[in-house]
Amino acid sequence: MTDIVAQAQASERAIAQAEKPEALEQARLDALGKKGWLSAALKELGGLEPEARKQRAAQLNEIKDRLSGALDAKRGALEDAAINARLAAEKQDMTLPLLDGAENLGRIHPIGQVIDEITEIFAAMGFTIAEGPDIEDDFHNFTALNIPPAHPARQMQDTFYLPPREDGEQMVLRTHTSPVQIRTMRSAQPPHRIVVPGRTYRSDYDMTHTPMFHQIEGLVIDRNIHMGHLKGVLVEFCKAFFETDKVKMRFRPSYFPFTEPSAEVDINCSREGGVLRVGEGDDWLEILGSGMVHRKVLEHCGVDPNEWQGFAWGMGIDRIAMLKYGIPDLRAFFDADLRWLKHYGFVPLDIPTLGQGVAR
Ligand code: DAH
Repeated sequence: MTDIVAQAQASERAIAQAEKPEALEQARLDALGKKGWLSAALKELGGLEPEARKQRAAQLNEIKDRLSGALDAKRGALEDAAINARLAAEKQDMTLPLLDGAENLGRIHPIGQVIDEITEIFAAMGFTIAEGPDIEDDFHNFTALNIPPAHPARQMQDTFYLPPREDGEQMVLRTHTSPVQIRTMRSAQPPHRIVVPGRTYRSDYDMTHTPMFHQIEGLVIDRNIHMGHLKGVLVEFCKAFFETDKVKMRFRPSYFPFTEPSAEVDINCSREGGVLRVGEGDDWLEILGSGMVHRKVLEHCGVDPNEWQGFAWGMGIDRIAMLKYGIPDLRAFFDADLRWLKHYGFVPLDIPTLGQGVAR
């Protein structure tokens, strides 16, 4: 009898004194484990007289409950202590200065930013992105787009030609993104609804022209498409891109070999005090060329012009990036000057930098 009480007290002491989970587990095994003293005592119950057995069983159960409770409580306490110790060890010193170089975090180039903005707007209207090669053949860049042999774009002084290949074919650096219209229509059945951002090349260099620049092409081919759709899409785009309902648009008759009728689109602006502001004033600024896809272009692509119609447009990305973000010289876009990029570029995430607040 006393023996059991003493063993229970010893176990309680071992539980109370356990400082590690391993010690606690050992105390549990010594008492309640298969070979523990309490299990042994329970096994001996069978040899007792009924009355004595009842008493003894009640006593052993009471001890078992007490020890289990003590084990649970101690286990919880050890776990809490472990978490608190970790929290104390991993505490961060928020007064440390920024890591070296955090202020020189990379920036998103304004061209990449504007391409993302434009494609997002058209994606919301159901357009997908299409792409094509920078090095094009004559058929896709010119012939299929109904560009006649004497067109200035075909001349050496405007277009970069590669040396002739063995078969005589002379490839060009694409002069516009329009060849991707052809590639799209020749590789899949209509309807089509695509935008094509990409690099384009012309032999030009001044404040507003660089030999490599960017365009975004759009193409919609479906049944019963008319100029109203063209206008609706472009008006919607301008409002979303310039983030104002105020911007006025002018659709001016024009000529492109690959569209009929063709229109150039201007937006209103003011140039007061030498500062260009979109959506204000009475001046006009051309931003894109557009039109209804010429039936000859559809025919070159095996699309029946009596069943399918569509519209297309082509817009200079660099130009409207300059407009939206007030960048004065196009050439700086491609100078790879990190100070310029830090000024005009976009921070990928809102990362707080000391002294600058939240950089954007
Ligand atoms: N490809 C023309 C250019 O580079 C722009 C253009 C005009 C594209 C009218 C079009 C269009 O798709 O319909 O000047």
